[in-house]
Amino acid sequence: MKVLIIGGGGREHALVWKIAQSPLVSKIFCAPGNPGIGQLAVNVPLKVDDLDGLLAFATTHRIDLTVVGPELPLSLGIVDRFEAAGLLIFGARRNAAIIEASKAFSKDLMKKYQVPTAFYEVFTEAEPALAFIARHGAPIVVKADGLAAGKGVIVARTVTEAQDAVRDMLSGDAFGAAGARVVIEEFLEGEEASFLAFTDGKSIIPLASAQDHKPVFDGDQGPNTGGMGAYSPAPVVTPAVHEKAMQEVMRRAVDGMAAEGRRYQGVLYAGLMIKNGEVKTLEFNARFGDPECQPLLMRLKSDLVPVLMACARGDLSGIELEWHDQAAVCVVMASGGYPGDFAKGFPINGLDQAAKIDDLVVFHAGTAEQDGRIVNSGGRVLGVTGRGPTVAAAIAKAYQGVRTINWEGVHYRTDIGRKALER
Ligand code: AMP
Ligand code: GLY
Repeated sequence: MKVLIIGGGGREHALVWKIAQSPLVSKIFCAPGNPGIGQLAVNVPLKVDDLDGLLAFATTHRIDLTVVGPELPLSLGIVDRFEAAGLLIFGARRNAAIIEASKAFSKDLMKKYQVPTAFYEVFTEAEPALAFIARHGAPIVVKADGLAAGKGVIVARTVTEAQDAVRDMLSGDAFGAAGARVVIEEFLEGEEASFLAFTDGKSIIPLASAQDHKPVFDGDQGPNTGGMGAYSPAPVVTPAVHEKAMQEVMRRAVDGMAAEGRRYQGVLYAGLMIKNGEVKTLEFNARFGDPECQPLLMRLKSDLVPVLMACARGDLSGIELEWHDQAAVCVVMASGGYPGDFAKGFPINGLDQAAKIDDLVVFHAGTAEQDGRIVNSGGRVLGVTGRGPTVAAAIAKAYQGVRTINWEGVHYRTDIGRKALER
């Protein structure tokens, strides 16, 4: 069968890498893809929000299965468009992807269906929002309602910082229309984990546990990014925490969405905050995490394609996931300056040498080809992912890969996975 993957980051490279191993698959296209993906698939120069172009491509090339990576096309309704044309597509429909596209919707859903989450209120006017912050004090968390590429959350340490964030968002200066509504919520302490599950709208099949590292510097210092590294399994997700996440978070969210007439099919990602065995939900995403997808798929033993097809068809019965016992760790190598401004176009050295290392895959994210060389072209450039019998071994493997690669200004965290070792 022919598969089309939509997206061009590290997550999509991991999806292409895994799908390429399926005996069911004869040809893979990826739109827009990237130079790493191009080694396994045909890159198609279409943007992820060009729904007309993507639909025309899938129809003309008789694509058997389309897999959507990022949230933007989901929130624009790509799944609805493809289904209306009779095409099989993996991802949440528009009325379900709202669980990520609107934080106010997501919080209201959690409240209505008793998914444990931080206390919050939603505001569209500055005055009551500023007063709410003054009343509750800091630390406090201010979130833009809409999609903001992972940057719409301000964890404010002071009342002034929180009030400034509210003004920036509601004025439209910070995130445009995405900031026209804000969620202000209680600050939660604890350790975060990413809990992902496949669902057909009824059955829920959890993936292995994972943990992301959002701040840009070691020791969780500096501004939040899309994710500087991830590992799986995450020991903070004990069997008891797993059970709670399944019953109190996933089950209630999936049933709640169905009760709202928004049946959720695809992969549902809950960002969890865990403290003393208690589980609270920070957010839902309607897609695989990036970079969590990279270590997760390196650990998945089962063929991914039948799972994706079963979700898309709305019937997961008979599907089981098998995992490698080994751990996997992904270290993101980023452009110096990210998540702020950064320079592009520096040639990346050492990729050939890294490719020779066993149990290591270098997933491309923000790379481009220039004059026959691979150069950095985005904030997160590579996801160097190692596998090993323990988290410690997988960390060593990933950093062995990282040390062979360099370019001008490269930045990466040196402590990915350390929290797992501390447990
Ligand atoms: P979100 O996009 O909602 O997951 O927020 C991004 C990041 O902000 C999370 O991964 C947390 O590190 C942090 N965060 C979000 N909400 C809270 C909260 N209520 N308390 C503490 N930290 C939070
Ligand atoms: N790594 C966090 C995310 O994908 O949202």
